[in-house]
Amino acid sequence: MAHAPTEADVRVRVPAKINLALRVGPIGPDGYHPLATVFQAVSLYDEVAVGEAPAGRFSIATLSPSGEPVPGVPDDDRNLAVRAARLLAQTYRRRVGATITVRKSIPVAGGMAGGSADAAAALLGCAALWQLDAGPDDLAGVAAQLGSDVPFALLGGTAIGRGRGEDLLPLLARGSYHYVLALDDVGLSTPGVYRRFDELTAAAGADPPPPELSNELLSALAGSSARQVGPLLVNDLQRAAIDQHPRLADVLAAGRRLGAVGGIVSGSGPTCFFLAASESAAVDLSIELTRSGVCRAVRRVTGPVPGARVVG
Ligand code: C5P
Repeated sequence: MAHAPTEADVRVRVPAKINLALRVGPIGPDGYHPLATVFQAVSLYDEVAVGEAPAGRFSIATLSPSGEPVPGVPDDDRNLAVRAARLLAQTYRRRVGATITVRKSIPVAGGMAGGSADAAAALLGCAALWQLDAGPDDLAGVAAQLGSDVPFALLGGTAIGRGRGEDLLPLLARGSYHYVLALDDVGLSTPGVYRRFDELTAAAGADPPPPELSNELLSALAGSSARQVGPLLVNDLQRAAIDQHPRLADVLAAGRRLGAVGGIVSGSGPTCFFLAASESAAVDLSIELTRSGVCRAVRRVTGPVPGARVVG
């Protein structure tokens, strides 16, 4: 049953991420792919409230911004935010519980790390609720045990990710970028897209090279020109995502035709993001993309923004 949030709850706001570059190496013996990626947190947020519960009791409700239950999100221990809260309690040897209520704006299974964001928010919220002596590095260590994208949701901003994505190096990216997101009405499974990536690379007959980021992209980010960054956006999972959901090719073509300076699939998809040359160009692009009818919904966001933060 949904918990009614109270004044005593700790509320955390946590952003979605996009990958400005996602270079993927050959699958390793652990079943993961080595990555070289540039994460950026963008201004699309979930809000997560955590409240006290009896020891050992953890519950979660995921609601839309208007308060309706969101389908397709587990409401038990399979939910990554519940696992985050449990792991934190166990790590700090606390006999505690928590009710977690998520107000979800980040698309589910959309390639924007929404589940990881909620887990990061649960870690930060529970650490405050239980008054743990846990600094950012401690929480990042717990986050890395939960999933590849969870540490970045705590950090935010712009960062290079290596390893599985959890090994982070913050980047000083100047300026603010204006994006238009094209949301889809289906979700794509991240492991499924990685599997398709493996099949496509096996069919090509050679392992993909070790993943590297181009110096061109890193120096373009050190400037702040969207026109320079746009053509350098790259996602090695894009072909696999399009293969699983061919309509994405039409979405990408529409965004480019309508004036984006660059556009790619976000993470494992199906959300696509388009970089606009300016705020007014982003407004125009979002209107035209909506009018074109190629996607379910369009959102205008900016990046970078900070990672998970306690609010209120
Ligand atoms: O780490 P996380 O649980 O978010 O990853 C979900 C799935 O995505 C993994 O089970 C794996 O199949 C795939 N993955 C991968 N290589 C990565 C990150 C994720 O193969 N670096």
